[in-house]
Amino acid sequence: MTGTTLIKNGTILTAEEEYRGDILIRGEKISVIADEIIPEKGWEVLDASGMYVMPGGVDQHVHFSFNYKGSKVRGFETSHAAAVGGTTTLIEFVNQEQGKGLVESIQDYIKSDVDGIAMVDYAFHSVMTDPRDEVIEEIPKLAEAGFPTMKLFMAYKGMFFHADDDTILKALKKGRAAGMTIMVHAENAEMIDVLSKELIREGKTEPYYHAVSRPPVVEAEATRRAIYLAELADAPLYVVHVSCKEAMEIIREAYSKGQQVYGETCSHYLVLDREDLAKPNFEGAKYVCSPALRTQEHRDALWEAIDKKWLNAVSSDHCGFDWKEQKHMGFGDGKSFADIPNGAPSLQNRMNILWTYGVCEGKISRQRFVDLACTMPARINGLEGKGHIGVGYDGDVVLFDPSYEGVISVKNNLEDVDFCPFEGFVQKGRADTVLLRGQVIVKNGQYVGQKGQGKLIHGKPYGDSYK
Ligand code: URP
Ligand code: ZN
Ligand code: ZN
Repeated sequence: MTGTTLIKNGTILTAEEEYRGDILIRGEKISVIADEIIPEKGWEVLDASGMYVMPGGVDQHVHFSFNYKGSKVRGFETSHAAAVGGTTTLIEFVNQEQGKGLVESIQDYIKSDVDGIAMVDYAFHSVMTDPRDEVIEEIPKLAEAGFPTMKLFMAYKGMFFHADDDTILKALKKGRAAGMTIMVHAENAEMIDVLSKELIREGKTEPYYHAVSRPPVVEAEATRRAIYLAELADAPLYVVHVSCKEAMEIIREAYSKGQQVYGETCSHYLVLDREDLAKPNFEGAKYVCSPALRTQEHRDALWEAIDKKWLNAVSSDHCGFDWKEQKHMGFGDGKSFADIPNGAPSLQNRMNILWTYGVCEGKISRQRFVDLACTMPARINGLEGKGHIGVGYDGDVVLFDPSYEGVISVKNNLEDVDFCPFEGFVQKGRADTVLLRGQVIVKNGQYVGQKGQGKLIHGKPYGDSYK
């Protein structure tokens, strides 16, 4: 049972402001915010002196069921990694199962892999993989069922989840009428296919060539094409995991001309480099993700973009693949970078990276931090009670200790894989205490919640991309 919790003496952070105040959470919701609230008998009091009190993070890009050439990521049993990193709501991508409906695929997945397991709140994006006419007709039902977002993969030629332009156009048109936000993984699958085959023929099979097979132009072309498709459909478009300057500029240009085109980037694109893929002894495989890691020039452009609101969220694109077994699918005779599962684990460190390398280095303000990590992801996805400290919002609150200093390592990571792409990075600040709908789930930086405590949050259609 949730009681009444008073958070005292903290500095409250929202996407707009920063002020001293106390917060009262009754049951699952924030009920009062005031300069000073006097505690009453029976209330739990948390002292937030010296802490920032901010909304629980919302990570709108998580994979707990992604399967790359038969190899599957870790699932919801690792969702407490989000909690210790300050994230209290995550949104996962669920592939439509062949022969099944879109809504049915998500509902079956919840029953088999989520219910009773999730340790933070969750919502879902659909991924359409079987675009028959009746499936296109079903798209509005997703919005009605509380799943108002859908991702389509322009990349990954030949894989069952790849989407052609006709599928994307049909989804945009159908989705528009129902307030669905269509999201795209924007990379040109044909370009990647040609370049990959050339490289492999030349014996260039090491992990580094993953990046060579997917240069920025691959992402830029698909981004521009998706924007044209959205223009034709008169529909909003959301571009996920933007990694390069060119794609970001194309989004910014379309938006500045009045088109409803938005995008996110991810923590790894802000701090990791293409050269990481060249690390010896197959270490480079740890950094294989798509789009590929870029250079400093692109990172500078991405930091500027998130500061100036040209991109509106920072996600993890978390994929819990391990290195010893799964990443090694691309190792040995006859194998190449193309066989390495795409994606890296970063659920736990998304907000740590954004705070340490963004706020502490003066690249973004604390308000931008909250907006990018919490508020905008909730609004884009129609999660009305999430992402903000305000009366009536869910009691998802992080007491963030800015004085903490540590080093990021797989050794204190709950993602259940054998590496961390940010290994050895300095971490400044951490989520000291985390509340999920009024219940403490992290204390002194340690997870203290329970399996199954997370609940399904239904998204509302017409998210912020329609505004
Ligand atoms: O490399 C990545 N990003 N893997 C996860 C699937 C996706 O494309 O988002
Ligand atoms: Zn993707
Ligand atoms: Zn992804």
